[in-house]
Amino acid sequence: MRSILLVIGGGIAAYKSLELVRRLAEHGIRTRAVLTRAGAEFITPLSVSALTGEKVYSDLFSLTDEAEMGHIQLSRSADLVVVAPATADLMGKMANGLAGDLASTTLLATDKAVLMAPAMNVRMWESASVRRNRAQLEKDGVLFVGPNDGEMACGEYGPGRMAEPLEIVAAIQQALAARGGPLHGVKALVTAGPTHEPVDPVRFLGNHSSGRQGYAIADALARAGAETTLVSGPVEIAPPHGVKLQRVTTAREMLAAVEAALPADVAVMAAAVADWRPDIAANSKIKKSVDRVVPLIKLVENPDILATLAQHAQRPRLLIGFAAETDDVVANAVAKRARKGADWIIANDVSGDVMGGDHNQVHLVSESGVQDWPDMTKAQVGARLVAAIIEKLKGAA
Ligand code: CTP
Repeated sequence: MRSILLVIGGGIAAYKSLELVRRLAEHGIRTRAVLTRAGAEFITPLSVSALTGEKVYSDLFSLTDEAEMGHIQLSRSADLVVVAPATADLMGKMANGLAGDLASTTLLATDKAVLMAPAMNVRMWESASVRRNRAQLEKDGVLFVGPNDGEMACGEYGPGRMAEPLEIVAAIQQALAARGGPLHGVKALVTAGPTHEPVDPVRFLGNHSSGRQGYAIADALARAGAETTLVSGPVEIAPPHGVKLQRVTTAREMLAAVEAALPADVAVMAAAVADWRPDIAANSKIKKSVDRVVPLIKLVENPDILATLAQHAQRPRLLIGFAAETDDVVANAVAKRARKGADWIIANDVSGDVMGGDHNQVHLVSESGVQDWPDMTKAQVGARLVAAIIEKLKGAA
Protein backbone atom coordinates (compact mmCIF):
# COMPACT_ATOMS: atom_id res chain seq x y z
CA MET A 1 0.00 0.00 0.00
CA ARG A 2 1.33 3.42 -0.88
CA SER A 3 1.70 5.89 1.93
CA ILE A 4 2.38 9.56 2.48
CA LEU A 5 3.70 11.58 5.37
CA LEU A 6 1.40 14.57 5.78
CA VAL A 7 2.80 17.66 7.47
CA ILE A 8 -0.08 19.84 8.67
CA GLY A 9 0.92 23.46 9.16
CA GLY A 10 -0.85 26.17 11.10
CA GLY A 11 -3.50 27.76 8.94
CA ILE A 12 -7.26 27.84 8.78
CA ALA A 13 -7.01 25.46 5.79
CA ALA A 14 -5.83 22.76 8.22
CA TYR A 15 -9.45 21.65 8.54
CA LYS A 16 -9.37 20.69 4.85
CA SER A 17 -6.44 18.39 5.60
CA LEU A 18 -8.79 16.21 7.60
CA GLU A 19 -10.91 15.73 4.51
CA LEU A 20 -7.72 15.13 2.54
CA VAL A 21 -6.87 12.21 4.82
CA ARG A 22 -10.32 10.70 4.27
CA ARG A 23 -10.08 11.11 0.50
CA LEU A 24 -6.63 9.53 0.46
CA ALA A 25 -7.96 6.53 2.38
CA GLU A 26 -10.73 6.18 -0.22
CA HIS A 27 -7.99 6.06 -2.87
CA GLY A 28 -6.04 3.41 -0.99
CA ILE A 29 -3.29 5.73 0.23
CA ARG A 30 -2.26 5.52 3.88
CA THR A 31 -1.42 8.68 5.81
CA ARG A 32 0.86 9.23 8.74
CA ALA A 33 0.76 12.80 10.04
CA VAL A 34 3.01 15.39 11.62
CA LEU A 35 1.06 18.22 13.21
CA THR A 36 2.95 21.44 13.90
CA ARG A 37 2.34 23.36 17.10
CA ALA A 38 0.56 26.06 15.09
CA GLY A 39 -1.43 23.38 13.26
CA ALA A 40 -2.65 22.08 16.61
CA GLU A 41 -4.22 25.50 17.23
CA PHE A 42 -6.62 24.76 14.36
CA ILE A 43 -7.28 21.02 14.57
CA THR A 44 -6.66 18.56 17.36
CA PRO A 45 -4.19 15.67 17.36
CA LEU A 46 -7.10 13.44 18.33
CA SER A 47 -9.11 14.22 15.19
CA VAL A 48 -6.03 13.63 13.03
CA SER A 49 -5.20 10.30 14.62
CA ALA A 50 -8.84 9.21 14.50
CA LEU A 51 -8.80 9.69 10.72
CA THR A 52 -5.31 8.37 9.99
CA GLY A 53 -5.65 5.49 12.40
CA GLU A 54 -2.10 6.22 13.50
CA LYS A 55 -0.29 8.08 16.20
CA VAL A 56 0.21 11.76 15.34
CA TYR A 57 3.73 13.11 15.62
CA SER A 58 4.36 16.61 16.82
CA ASP A 59 7.31 16.88 19.13
CA LEU A 60 10.91 16.70 17.96
CA PHE A 61 12.18 16.18 21.47
CA SER A 62 9.65 13.65 22.73
CA LEU A 63 11.57 10.68 24.07
CA THR A 64 8.78 8.20 23.56
CA ASP A 65 8.38 9.26 19.94
CA GLU A 66 12.09 8.93 19.35
CA ALA A 67 12.07 5.52 20.99
CA GLU A 68 9.24 4.30 18.78
CA MET A 69 10.33 5.98 15.59
CA GLY A 70 13.18 8.45 15.18
CA HIS A 71 12.56 11.63 13.24
CA ILE A 72 14.94 10.56 10.47
CA GLN A 73 13.13 7.27 10.03
CA LEU A 74 9.78 9.06 10.14
CA SER A 75 10.87 11.37 7.32
CA ARG A 76 11.65 8.36 5.13
CA SER A 77 8.86 6.04 6.14
CA ALA A 78 6.45 7.12 3.40
CA ASP A 79 6.62 7.23 -0.41
CA LEU A 80 6.04 10.98 -0.55
CA VAL A 81 6.00 13.90 1.90
CA VAL A 82 3.01 16.24 1.52
CA VAL A 83 2.78 19.61 3.27
CA ALA A 84 -0.84 20.83 3.55
CA PRO A 85 -1.41 23.52 4.44
CA ALA A 86 2.08 24.73 3.55
CA THR A 87 2.34 27.98 5.47
CA ALA A 88 4.75 30.81 4.69
CA ASP A 89 6.64 29.69 7.79
CA LEU A 90 7.12 26.08 6.63
CA MET A 91 8.05 27.20 3.10
CA GLY A 92 10.55 29.68 4.52
CA LYS A 93 12.09 27.10 6.82
CA MET A 94 12.53 24.51 4.11
CA ALA A 95 13.83 27.02 1.53
CA ASN A 96 16.46 28.21 3.99
CA GLY A 97 17.43 24.96 5.64
CA LEU A 98 16.00 25.68 9.10
CA ALA A 99 15.12 22.76 11.33
CA GLY A 100 13.88 23.92 14.71
CA ASP A 101 10.93 21.59 15.08
CA LEU A 102 9.78 18.15 13.96
CA ALA A 103 8.02 19.31 10.78
CA SER A 104 10.95 21.31 9.44
CA THR A 105 13.51 18.70 10.49
CA THR A 106 11.50 16.05 8.66
CA LEU A 107 11.45 18.17 5.51
CA LEU A 108 15.24 18.50 5.55
CA ALA A 109 15.94 14.90 6.49
CA THR A 110 13.70 13.20 3.97
CA ASP A 111 15.03 11.41 0.91
CA LYS A 112 11.57 11.42 -0.68
CA ALA A 113 9.90 13.95 -3.00
CA VAL A 114 8.04 16.79 -1.27
CA LEU A 115 4.70 18.18 -2.49
CA MET A 116 3.46 21.46 -1.01
CA ALA A 117 -0.11 22.83 -0.99
CA PRO A 118 0.39 26.44 0.06
CA ALA A 119 -2.30 28.36 1.93
CA MET A 120 -1.94 31.91 3.11
CA ASN A 121 -3.23 35.43 2.79
CA VAL A 122 -2.90 36.81 -0.75
CA ARG A 123 -0.53 39.59 0.32
CA MET A 124 1.68 37.08 2.06
CA TRP A 125 1.65 34.82 -1.00
CA GLU A 126 2.65 37.74 -3.21
CA SER A 127 5.25 39.16 -0.82
CA ALA A 128 8.82 39.32 -2.06
CA SER A 129 10.09 36.85 0.52
CA VAL A 130 7.48 34.15 -0.12
CA ARG A 131 8.08 34.50 -3.87
CA ARG A 132 11.79 34.12 -3.29
CA ASN A 133 11.30 31.06 -1.11
CA ARG A 134 8.94 29.48 -3.59
CA ALA A 135 11.39 30.02 -6.46
CA GLN A 136 14.12 28.43 -4.38
CA LEU A 137 11.95 25.44 -3.46
CA GLU A 138 10.97 24.94 -7.10
CA LYS A 139 14.61 25.02 -8.05
CA ASP A 140 15.28 22.40 -5.40
CA GLY A 141 12.65 20.16 -7.00
CA VAL A 142 9.78 20.64 -4.53
CA LEU A 143 6.40 20.05 -6.22
CA PHE A 144 3.46 22.41 -5.76
CA VAL A 145 -0.30 22.14 -6.05
CA GLY A 146 -2.24 25.41 -5.89
CA PRO A 147 -2.85 27.81 -4.33
CA ASN A 148 -6.13 28.72 -6.02
CA ASP A 149 -7.76 32.09 -6.45
CA GLY A 150 -10.70 32.78 -4.22
CA GLU A 151 -12.11 34.46 -1.19
CA MET A 152 -10.00 34.00 1.92
CA ALA A 153 -11.03 33.49 5.49
CA CYS A 154 -9.73 37.03 6.11
CA GLY A 155 -12.12 38.46 3.49
CA GLU A 156 -9.50 39.34 0.87
CA TYR A 157 -9.63 37.91 -2.63
CA GLY A 158 -6.86 36.43 -4.75
CA PRO A 159 -4.37 33.57 -4.92
CA GLY A 160 -3.70 31.94 -1.54
CA ARG A 161 -6.54 29.48 -0.97
CA MET A 162 -5.30 25.96 -0.47
CA ALA A 163 -6.09 23.59 -3.35
CA GLU A 164 -9.18 21.47 -2.74
CA PRO A 165 -8.63 18.01 -1.21
CA LEU A 166 -9.44 16.19 -4.47
CA GLU A 167 -6.95 18.34 -6.39
CA ILE A 168 -4.32 17.48 -3.82
CA VAL A 169 -5.19 13.79 -4.11
CA ALA A 170 -4.71 14.04 -7.91
CA ALA A 171 -1.32 15.72 -7.46
CA ILE A 172 -0.30 13.07 -4.92
CA GLN A 173 -1.33 10.24 -7.23
CA GLN A 174 0.64 11.78 -10.04
CA ALA A 175 3.73 12.27 -7.87
CA LEU A 176 3.47 8.66 -6.68
CA ALA A 177 2.99 7.33 -10.22
CA ALA A 178 5.97 9.36 -11.47
CA ARG A 179 8.25 7.68 -8.92
CA GLY A 180 7.78 4.35 -10.61
CA GLY A 181 7.65 5.80 -14.14
CA PRO A 182 9.96 4.84 -16.98
CA LEU A 183 11.57 8.30 -17.04
CA HIS A 184 12.23 8.43 -13.31
CA GLY A 185 15.64 10.07 -12.84
CA VAL A 186 15.51 11.80 -16.25
CA LYS A 187 15.52 15.61 -16.49
CA ALA A 188 13.32 17.06 -19.22
CA LEU A 189 12.97 20.60 -20.52
CA VAL A 190 10.08 21.84 -22.66
CA THR A 191 9.36 25.23 -24.22
CA ALA A 192 5.82 26.14 -25.19
CA GLY A 193 3.59 28.97 -26.35
CA PRO A 194 4.39 32.12 -28.27
CA THR A 195 6.75 34.87 -27.30
CA HIS A 196 5.63 38.48 -27.17
CA GLU A 197 8.12 41.05 -28.35
CA PRO A 198 7.26 44.55 -27.10
CA VAL A 199 6.85 47.44 -29.54
CA ASP A 200 5.91 49.86 -26.77
CA PRO A 201 4.22 49.45 -23.37
CA VAL A 202 0.87 48.56 -24.94
CA ARG A 203 1.79 46.70 -28.15
CA PHE A 204 3.73 43.61 -29.06
CA LEU A 205 4.58 41.30 -31.95
CA GLY A 206 3.31 37.77 -31.33
CA ASN A 207 1.66 34.79 -32.96
CA HIS A 208 -1.31 32.46 -32.54
CA SER A 209 0.43 29.64 -30.68
CA SER A 210 -1.84 28.36 -27.88
CA GLY A 211 0.89 26.41 -26.09
CA ARG A 212 -1.33 23.31 -25.97
CA GLN A 213 1.00 20.93 -27.77
CA GLY A 214 3.98 21.88 -25.59
CA TYR A 215 1.89 21.66 -22.40
CA ALA A 216 0.63 18.22 -23.44
CA ILE A 217 4.23 17.06 -23.98
CA ALA A 218 5.35 18.41 -20.60
CA ASP A 219 2.37 16.66 -19.00
CA ALA A 220 3.24 13.33 -20.67
CA LEU A 221 6.90 13.65 -19.63
CA ALA A 222 5.97 14.34 -16.00
CA ARG A 223 3.51 11.43 -15.98
CA ALA A 224 6.30 9.17 -17.18
CA GLY A 225 8.33 10.27 -14.16
CA ALA A 226 10.70 12.82 -15.74
CA GLU A 227 11.64 15.83 -13.62
CA THR A 228 10.16 18.33 -16.05
CA THR A 229 10.71 22.06 -16.44
CA LEU A 230 8.26 23.89 -18.69
CA VAL A 231 9.37 27.30 -19.96
CA SER A 232 6.22 28.95 -21.22
CA GLY A 233 5.44 32.10 -23.15
CA PRO A 234 2.17 33.93 -22.44
CA VAL A 235 -0.72 31.43 -22.75
CA GLU A 236 -4.16 30.95 -21.24
CA ILE A 237 -3.95 27.33 -20.13
CA ALA A 238 -3.37 25.79 -16.72
CA PRO A 239 0.04 24.21 -16.08
CA PRO A 240 0.15 20.42 -15.81
CA HIS A 241 0.59 18.85 -12.37
CA GLY A 242 4.08 18.03 -11.24
CA VAL A 243 5.80 20.30 -13.75
CA LYS A 244 8.14 23.11 -12.81
CA LEU A 245 6.72 26.14 -14.64
CA GLN A 246 8.82 29.14 -15.65
CA ARG A 247 6.81 31.92 -17.26
CA VAL A 248 8.53 34.23 -19.71
CA THR A 249 7.44 36.85 -22.23
CA THR A 250 10.17 37.44 -24.81
CA ALA A 251 12.50 35.16 -26.78
CA ARG A 252 15.51 36.46 -24.91
CA GLU A 253 13.85 35.69 -21.55
CA MET A 254 12.97 32.23 -22.86
CA LEU A 255 16.57 31.56 -23.82
CA ALA A 256 17.79 32.68 -20.38
CA ALA A 257 15.23 30.43 -18.62
CA VAL A 258 16.17 27.48 -20.84
CA GLU A 259 19.87 27.91 -20.11
CA ALA A 260 19.16 28.24 -16.39
CA ALA A 261 17.27 24.91 -16.48
CA LEU A 262 20.29 22.97 -17.85
CA PRO A 263 21.53 20.32 -17.57
CA ALA A 264 18.72 18.27 -19.07
CA ASP A 265 18.68 14.81 -20.64
CA VAL A 266 15.96 15.60 -23.13
CA ALA A 267 14.68 18.94 -24.44
CA VAL A 268 11.58 19.52 -26.54
CA MET A 269 11.41 22.97 -28.08
CA ALA A 270 7.72 23.36 -28.90
CA ALA A 271 7.52 27.13 -28.47
CA ALA A 272 6.64 29.31 -31.43
CA VAL A 273 9.45 31.74 -30.75
CA ALA A 274 9.18 35.08 -32.57
CA ASP A 275 11.97 35.12 -35.14
CA TRP A 276 12.30 38.89 -34.90
CA ARG A 277 11.75 41.65 -32.36
CA PRO A 278 11.53 45.41 -32.73
CA ASP A 279 15.07 46.73 -32.37
CA ILE A 280 13.89 49.23 -29.76
CA ALA A 281 10.90 48.81 -27.45
CA ALA A 282 9.65 52.38 -26.88
CA ASN A 283 9.36 53.37 -23.22
CA SER A 284 6.13 55.23 -23.79
CA LYS A 285 3.21 54.59 -26.10
CA ILE A 286 3.93 55.50 -29.70
CA LYS A 287 1.37 58.16 -30.73
CA LYS A 288 -0.01 58.98 -34.17
CA SER A 289 1.83 61.98 -35.51
CA VAL A 290 -0.14 65.03 -36.69
CA ASP A 291 1.06 64.61 -40.25
CA ARG A 292 -0.01 60.93 -40.27
CA VAL A 293 3.49 59.59 -40.85
CA VAL A 294 3.35 55.88 -40.15
CA PRO A 295 6.03 54.66 -37.71
CA LEU A 296 8.62 52.35 -39.19
CA ILE A 297 9.43 49.44 -36.94
CA LYS A 298 12.86 48.03 -37.59
CA LEU A 299 13.20 44.36 -36.72
CA VAL A 300 16.27 42.53 -35.47
CA GLU A 301 16.72 38.77 -35.24
CA ASN A 302 16.01 36.96 -31.98
CA PRO A 303 18.37 34.30 -30.68
CA ASP A 304 17.49 30.83 -31.95
CA ILE A 305 16.98 28.82 -28.77
CA LEU A 306 16.97 25.40 -30.44
CA ALA A 307 20.15 26.13 -32.42
CA THR A 308 21.83 27.61 -29.31
CA LEU A 309 21.07 24.43 -27.34
CA ALA A 310 22.42 22.28 -30.17
CA GLN A 311 25.79 24.04 -29.85
CA HIS A 312 25.72 24.29 -26.06
CA ALA A 313 28.42 22.80 -23.84
CA GLN A 314 25.55 21.20 -21.88
CA ARG A 315 23.65 20.02 -24.97
CA PRO A 316 20.83 17.66 -23.95
CA ARG A 317 21.38 14.06 -25.06
CA LEU A 318 18.16 14.16 -27.04
CA LEU A 319 17.22 17.50 -28.58
CA ILE A 320 13.85 17.78 -30.28
CA GLY A 321 12.53 20.74 -32.27
CA PHE A 322 9.32 21.53 -34.04
CA ALA A 323 8.86 22.77 -37.56
CA ALA A 324 5.74 24.74 -38.19
CA GLU A 325 5.36 24.81 -41.94
CA THR A 326 2.70 25.83 -44.43
CA ASP A 327 4.38 24.35 -47.55
CA ASP A 328 6.64 21.37 -48.35
CA VAL A 329 6.25 20.27 -44.74
CA VAL A 330 8.53 17.22 -44.67
CA ALA A 331 11.25 18.57 -46.98
CA ASN A 332 11.50 21.75 -44.95
CA ALA A 333 11.63 19.76 -41.71
CA VAL A 334 14.43 17.54 -42.97
CA ALA A 335 16.43 20.64 -43.90
CA LYS A 336 15.60 22.29 -40.57
CA ARG A 337 16.83 19.28 -38.62
CA ALA A 338 20.24 19.55 -40.24
CA ARG A 339 20.39 23.35 -40.11
CA LYS A 340 19.53 23.62 -36.43
CA GLY A 341 21.44 20.58 -35.22
CA ALA A 342 18.42 18.88 -33.61
CA ASP A 343 18.19 15.10 -33.23
CA TRP A 344 14.52 14.97 -34.10
CA ILE A 345 12.08 17.39 -35.66
CA ILE A 346 8.32 17.13 -35.23
CA ALA A 347 6.92 18.66 -38.37
CA ASN A 348 3.41 19.95 -38.56
CA ASP A 349 1.38 21.63 -41.21
CA VAL A 350 0.07 24.87 -39.76
CA SER A 351 -1.85 25.95 -42.83
CA GLY A 352 -5.12 24.70 -41.19
CA ASP A 353 -6.39 25.50 -37.68
CA VAL A 354 -3.67 23.60 -35.78
CA MET A 355 -2.78 26.63 -33.72
CA GLY A 356 -5.32 26.68 -30.92
CA GLY A 357 -7.05 23.47 -32.08
CA ASP A 358 -7.18 20.15 -30.23
CA HIS A 359 -5.72 17.95 -32.94
CA ASN A 360 -2.38 17.70 -34.63
CA GLN A 361 -1.08 15.66 -37.54
CA VAL A 362 2.66 15.46 -37.46
CA HIS A 363 5.70 13.74 -38.92
CA LEU A 364 8.66 12.64 -36.84
CA VAL A 365 11.89 13.37 -38.70
CA SER A 366 14.86 11.58 -37.15
CA GLU A 367 18.24 10.12 -38.05
CA SER A 368 16.45 7.04 -39.29
CA GLY A 369 13.98 8.73 -41.61
CA VAL A 370 10.47 10.11 -41.54
CA GLN A 371 7.48 8.64 -39.69
CA ASP A 372 4.03 9.94 -40.60
CA TRP A 373 1.81 9.88 -37.53
CA PRO A 374 -1.98 9.82 -37.95
CA ASP A 375 -4.21 12.70 -36.97
CA MET A 376 -4.36 12.61 -33.14
CA THR A 377 -5.25 14.82 -30.22
CA LYS A 378 -2.39 16.90 -28.88
CA ALA A 379 -2.43 14.75 -25.73
CA GLN A 380 -1.97 11.64 -27.90
CA VAL A 381 0.89 13.28 -29.80
CA GLY A 382 2.48 14.05 -26.40
CA ALA A 383 2.08 10.45 -25.22
CA ARG A 384 3.43 9.00 -28.47
CA LEU A 385 6.41 11.35 -28.47
CA VAL A 386 7.20 10.38 -24.87
CA ALA A 387 6.98 6.69 -25.82
CA ALA A 388 9.56 7.36 -28.56
CA ILE A 389 11.74 9.30 -26.09
CA ILE A 390 11.64 6.41 -23.61
CA GLU A 391 12.66 3.96 -26.34
CA LYS A 392 15.51 6.21 -27.49
CA LEU A 393 16.92 6.94 -24.03
CA LYS A 394 16.59 3.31 -22.92
CA GLY A 395 18.22 2.12 -26.14
CA ALA A 396 21.13 4.47 -25.56
CA ALA A 397 21.55 3.46 -21.92
N1 CTP B 1 13.00 28.09 -32.40
C1 CTP B 1 13.78 28.55 -31.38
N2 CTP B 1 14.18 29.85 -31.35
C2 CTP B 1 13.83 30.69 -32.34
C3 CTP B 1 13.03 30.23 -33.41
C4 CTP B 1 12.63 28.91 -33.41
O1 CTP B 1 14.11 27.76 -30.48
N3 CTP B 1 14.22 31.95 -32.28
C5 CTP B 1 12.64 26.67 -32.42
C6 CTP B 1 11.18 26.37 -32.25
O2 CTP B 1 10.83 26.18 -30.90
C7 CTP B 1 11.02 25.10 -33.05
C8 CTP B 1 12.05 25.22 -34.15
O3 CTP B 1 12.98 26.18 -33.67
O4 CTP B 1 11.39 23.97 -32.28
C9 CTP B 1 11.55 25.63 -35.50
O5 CTP B 1 10.84 26.82 -35.49
P1 CTP B 1 10.28 27.42 -36.88
O6 CTP B 1 9.66 28.72 -36.58
O7 CTP B 1 9.49 26.41 -37.60
O8 CTP B 1 11.63 27.59 -37.68
P2 CTP B 1 12.45 28.85 -38.02
O9 CTP B 1 13.81 28.68 -37.50
O10 CTP B 1 11.75 30.06 -37.58
O11 CTP B 1 12.54 28.74 -39.57
P3 CTP B 1 11.55 29.35 -40.69
O12 CTP B 1 10.68 30.33 -39.99
O13 CTP B 1 12.46 29.91 -41.67
O14 CTP B 1 10.81 28.16 -41.16
